[in-house]
Amino acid sequence: MARVNENFLKLKAGYLFPEIGRRVSKFCAENPDAKVIRLGIGDVTEPLVPATIEAMHKAVDEMAHRETFRGYGPEQGYDFLRTAIADNDYKSRGVHIDADEIFVSDGSKCDTGNILDVFDLGNTVAVQDPVYPVYVDTNVMAGRTGAADAQGRYAGLTYLPCVAENGFTPEIPKEKVDIVYLCYPNNPTGAVASRETLVEWVAYAKQHGSLILFDAAYCAFVQDDSIPLTIYEIEGARSVAIEFRSFSKNAGFTGTRCAFTVVPKDLMVSTESGEKRPLHPVWSRRHSTKFNGVSYIVQRGAEAVYTPEGQQQTLELVKFYMENAKLLREGLTAAGIEVFGGENAPYIWLKTPGGVPSWDFFDHLLTQAHLVGTPGSGFGASGEGYFRLSAFNSRANVEEAVVRIQNLLK
Ligand code: MLT
Repeated sequence: MARVNENFLKLKAGYLFPEIGRRVSKFCAENPDAKVIRLGIGDVTEPLVPATIEAMHKAVDEMAHRETFRGYGPEQGYDFLRTAIADNDYKSRGVHIDADEIFVSDGSKCDTGNILDVFDLGNTVAVQDPVYPVYVDTNVMAGRTGAADAQGRYAGLTYLPCVAENGFTPEIPKEKVDIVYLCYPNNPTGAVASRETLVEWVAYAKQHGSLILFDAAYCAFVQDDSIPLTIYEIEGARSVAIEFRSFSKNAGFTGTRCAFTVVPKDLMVSTESGEKRPLHPVWSRRHSTKFNGVSYIVQRGAEAVYTPEGQQQTLELVKFYMENAKLLREGLTAAGIEVFGGENAPYIWLKTPGGVPSWDFFDHLLTQAHLVGTPGSGFGASGEGYFRLSAFNSRANVEEAVVRIQNLLK
C-alpha cells in the first residue's frame, strides 16, 4: 500500500476558509430564507475593468487564427507582461528590478507555498501571528514542524505576535531565523510597515544571513504615501528578499488568476558546505519544471492593467473597496467596537465585543445577523479575541452589514 506523507496528518482538520464555508453552507441549508452577507474570505465582487476585458477579448480573437495562435508560452511569463511589471511597479518608484527577475504565476497563495521547494528543511522559519494560514500550513506539509499545541502553534516555527499592544508590528527576533515571512499591508490585521520598520528588517536579514519572504499582495490599497509599496524601496533588500505580488485584489483577478514573484539575481543562498549560490536559477528551474505558465489571454489582461486606462480603472476599483472599508470602520466604531486596519488595507480587524472567543463571535454573527466574517483565532493564537471583516463586497451589502451589526449590538 502506498504510504501517505504524514506531515499532512499534522495539519488542523480543514483549511480556514473551507471550514468557514462548511459552517455557512450548513446554516444556509437549515435557514434557506436567511439573506447571508459574506465578508469572510477576501474575494472580490466587482467585475474586471474594461481595459482588461478588451485586452482579453482581443487575445481570444488572436487565438482564433492560425497566424496569431499561441501554444505553450514561456513558463516564467511573456516578456510583454514582465516588462510592464518591471516598468510600472518598480522603475516608476525608483526601484531596479529586471524583467527577467519577475516570474509570472497563477497566484501568490501558490507561490508562497511553492517557494519552499527550493529551501532546505533545516532552515528555521518565523511567521507573524496572526498569519495568512498558507505560510504555516505549507511549512507543515514540507515537514519543517512538529505537531501543533492546544493553541494551534506548531513546534519548530517561531511565531511573532502582532497584537494591539505592539500596533500589530512584531518585534524583530533577537536570535537568528533563516526565513521570515512578512505580509504588508497585512492580512489579516490590515497593519502596514513603515519605511523604518522595513529598514530594520532588511538590516536584521543582512546581519544574520536571513531571507525575507515579503508578501505584498495588498500593496495597491496603501493610501499613506510614506509607506513603501515594495520592499525593494529599501536599500539592500535585493540581496535579502523575495517579493510576492498579485493581480487578484487590485484588478479583481481572484477568478482569473495572475500573480508574480520577484527573485532578484543578487539574492544568494548557501549550500550545506557553505558555498554561496544565486537563488534565481534555482527558482527558475523549479518554476519551469513544475509550471506551464499563465495563459496568454490572462497575461494580456494583466498587461492591460498597466495601460493609462487600466491604471485609472483599477485605481477606481481600489477606491471603491476602500470606501467600503471606511464605512465598516466608521459603522463598527459607532457601534462601540474597537476597530483596526481598513485604512491602508481592505481588511478590518476588530476586537470581539466583550472579548468573546473568535469562533463564538463568528457563530453569533452568523446565526443572529446572518453575517459571515473570519475568526481571528483561525489566523493564529494571537488572533484569539479578534475578528476580520473583508471590505470586498457590493456597497449595498456593506451598508446592510453595518446596520445589522449595529442592531445586533444595541
Ligand atoms: C483571504 O481572505 O485571506 C484571502 O482571500 C485569501 C487569499 O487571497 O488566498
